[in-house]
Amino acid sequence: MTYSIVWTCCGLLALVLSACGGNAAVTPVDPQQIETGKAIYAANCAACHGAKGEGEPNWKVPDANGVYPAPPHDRSGHTWHHADALLLQVMREGSGMPNSKMPVYGEILSQAEMEAVLAYIKTFWGPEEAAFQQQMTEQWKEQNR
Ligand code: HEC
Repeated sequence: MTYSIVWTCCGLLALVLSACGGNAAVTPVDPQQIETGKAIYAANCAACHGAKGEGEPNWKVPDANGVYPAPPHDRSGHTWHHADALLLQVMREGSGMPNSKMPVYGEILSQAEMEAVLAYIKTFWGPEEAAFQQQMTEQWKEQNR
C-alpha cells in the first residue's frame, strides 16, 4: 500500500515536470531505500523531528538557553529549501548552529543510511516542494562541479 502511494506520487511528479517542460531529472524512487530510511528515521529522528516530520512546537523560538527546538521536515518547514548535499552535511556533521541539539550522525549512520533517511524525508513533501528541492540539488551540483 505504502509502495503504491509512493509510486503514484512519483508518477504524478514525473508527469507534472514533463508537462512543464522541466529539465530537472526526477530522482528515481526506490521503495526499498524508503523503507530502510523510514526505520532509521523512526529510531533516530522522530523523537525530535516528529513521526511525520512535523517538528517540535514553536520551532522558531529558542528556549532560555538559546537552544532551538527541532524544525519540521514536512512541507511547513524549510528542509525542502536545501540541496541534498547540504542536508546530508547537516546529518553527517551537525548544523553548525550555536547551542545546537541536532546530533552528529557521521559516525553513527553510514552514507547509504543517511541517503535512505533523506529519501524517506522526501516522502513528507508534495510535488511542488519535491520539484523545488530537486532544482536546488541540481543547482548545487552545477556550482560545485
Ligand atoms: C535531539 C533532537 C534531534 C534529533 C534526535 C535529530 N535532530 Fe535534526 N535537528 C535538530 C535541531 C534542533 C535542528 C535545527 C538546527 C539546530 O538547532 O542545530 C535540526 C536540524 C536538522 C536538519 C536541517 C533542517 C533544515 O530544515 O534545514 C536536518 C536535515 C536534520 N536535522 C536531520 C535529522 C535527521 C535525519 C535525524 C535522524 C537521523 C535528526 N535530524 C535527528 C534536532 C534533532
